[in-house]
Amino acid sequence: MKKALITGVTGQDGSYLAELLLEKGYEVYGVMRRKSVVNYGNTAHIKDDIRFIYADMTDVTSLIAAMRQSEADEVYNLAAQSFVATSWEQPIATTDIDALGVTNMLEAIRIIKPACRFYQASTSEMFGLVQEMPQTESTPFYPRSPYGVAKLYGHWITKNYRESYGLHAGSGILFNHESERRGKEFVTRKITAAAAQIKLGAQQYVELGNLDAKRDWGHSADYVRAMWLMLQQKEPDDYVIATNETRTIREFAERAFACAGFDIRWQGEGVNETGVDARTGHTLIKVNTRFFRPAEVEILLGNPAKAETVLGWKREISFSELVERMVKHDIALAERELKAARQS
Ligand code: NAP
Ligand code: GDD
Repeated sequence: MKKALITGVTGQDGSYLAELLLEKGYEVYGVMRRKSVVNYGNTAHIKDDIRFIYADMTDVTSLIAAMRQSEADEVYNLAAQSFVATSWEQPIATTDIDALGVTNMLEAIRIIKPACRFYQASTSEMFGLVQEMPQTESTPFYPRSPYGVAKLYGHWITKNYRESYGLHAGSGILFNHESERRGKEFVTRKITAAAAQIKLGAQQYVELGNLDAKRDWGHSADYVRAMWLMLQQKEPDDYVIATNETRTIREFAERAFACAGFDIRWQGEGVNETGVDARTGHTLIKVNTRFFRPAEVEILLGNPAKAETVLGWKREISFSELVERMVKHDIALAERELKAARQS
């Protein structure tokens, strides 16, 4: 039985990856942070199948202990301060976790079990101010946020440990991927949760930032399969995982609100732009500059040809299915919450 250690197991990707590895018969260990109230996050439904280890990416001794306890054959380093906007508010913490945390994990592997295979969660945010279209493994990087800069360090230190010590270490350069488990501060989930609340009459409208930004969106369940495939290869390498399709935030919002039964029409321009329901005339979307970023990544579009050819990876969940799944999930959730509130 293979043993895997997942950092960031309670997050979106960590939970889908844990499910995948459990299905494949792995013994799954998960790094979890100590909290004042015990919270298994997205792994609550499989918590009894995961062996949790309390550790923190900023504490190398705890990661060495996690390696010693798990004797992992594969480490998936998914832990991060992953919200780009917060990285301007907490640049030092973001750097400690997302940059130095990677070296901490690599050192723990090098000291305890150098034969262990290592996956690093790199990101399309490293392309930032994009230097070519679409982006591939050889596109030059130009990060635009403290998060992107920290992740670029993590990317290069992984490559460096591969070349310096011969570790089986590789990075997945993953483009945005969402799901029913996506954190509610990210724009997709913010929109699908709002569409559900508005449908049930629990909210009037939602405020968003830059509607013109474009992202290449896939589903997390498809993307964690690529992580596993990467560690099954004889040689470690880096791979772009993306859909090769890009859409604006505006398009995502139109599609999500349509799934909830609304027909969005856009009125006004710039900060005065609003999304109005064609049937009722109600304003459902407003722009608020509070959600603008000090430096923006205007467009991301990834070419996953290398992953498709070498790994045999292919995404299975289309953009429209992704949006539909998220909206349906959020409507069901909002209905449950409303019912519980009425009963209490
Ligand atoms: P997520 O839902 O925000 O999960 C992040 C996880 O990291 C959580 O389990 C969190 O634990 C944990 N964590 C944060 N700080 C930690 C620390 N100091 N020590 C230990 N654990 C810590 O993120 P995600 O969307 O699943 O993304 C997974 C990884 O892929 C991240 O590294 C992210 O940067 C990267 N990535 C994501 C995307 C995407 O579109 N989703 C794209 C490219 C790359 P708590 O539960 O305690 O907060
Ligand atoms: N969060 C948020 N909230 N974003 C908004 C809003 C809003 O109200 N309005 C517009 N946006 C725009 C942002 O300015 C950005 O251009 C885009 O929506 C996507 O924002 P997020 O959903 O927060 O994701 P992200 O692209 O910044 O980062 C995600 O993807 C990266 C991969 O490219 C995160 O998952 C990162 O961890 C990941 O590395």
